[in-house]
Amino acid sequence: MEFSRVVARRRMVRRYRPDPVDPAAVDRILDVARAGPSAGFSQGQSFVVVTDAGDRAAIARLCGEAQWVARGFEPWLSRAPVHVVPCVREADYHARYARPDKARSPGPAGWHVPWWWIDGGAAMMLLLLATVDEGLGAGLLDVGDPGPLRRLLALPADVAPLGLVTIGHPAAGDPGPARRRPRRPRGEVVHLGRWGAGAPA
Ligand SMILES: Cc1cc2nc3c(=O)[nH]c(=O)nc-3n(C[C@H](O)[C@H](O)[C@H](O)COP(=O)(O)O)c2cc1C
Repeated sequence: MEFSRVVARRRMVRRYRPDPVDPAAVDRILDVARAGPSAGFSQGQSFVVVTDAGDRAAIARLCGEAQWVARGFEPWLSRAPVHVVPCVREADYHARYARPDKARSPGPAGWHVPWWWIDGGAAMMLLLLATVDEGLGAGLLDVGDPGPLRRLLALPADVAPLGLVTIGHPAAGDPGPARRRPRRPRGEVVHLGRWGAGAPA
């Protein structure tokens, strides 16, 4: 699919048809997601893929899906046939910058932002866009306290889950409240040369 079309079509999908997703499509999506950038090519991003219905139901439980369903929402999580939990491992960055070819770099101690989170976000975005490119839909949500998810997925102590991405065939219906508000205009978010010099809308 044309890149601009992929970007334009992407939105968080919270309703799915129950049809399974072709495992080959999931593999292709993950190959795109792991092709992103990382500081020093540390490659601290990883992905836990969950398709087992019992495990997906367990994730839905620990994310409080039942309370949302009781309030009239769709069972977003348990119905999505594929869950992906993107993770980052800070230790990979420290190990990378301890290598001889990085001896002249201040590394993580000198960074103004912890790049492992940013790189995780880049991987997340690729995951969402690759899903659209496969003709599927994806939704991202914050899982709150990561402890229960960490235990369920047997994550090592130094691996941090970023959130939960659901993947599946989008069901027809309400796209949700997100798109009832327009995006902020270009002139408000793009600054030309100096902050406050807005680009034409
Ligand atoms: C870090 C993050 C956490 C999010 N958590 C939730 C969530 O818990 N529940 C939800 O319905 N949407 C969640 N979203 C989706 C946003 O509401 C959505 O991206 C935003 O409203 C813009 O809509 P769009 O992505 O469809 O363009 C989350 C998005 C991000 C980036």
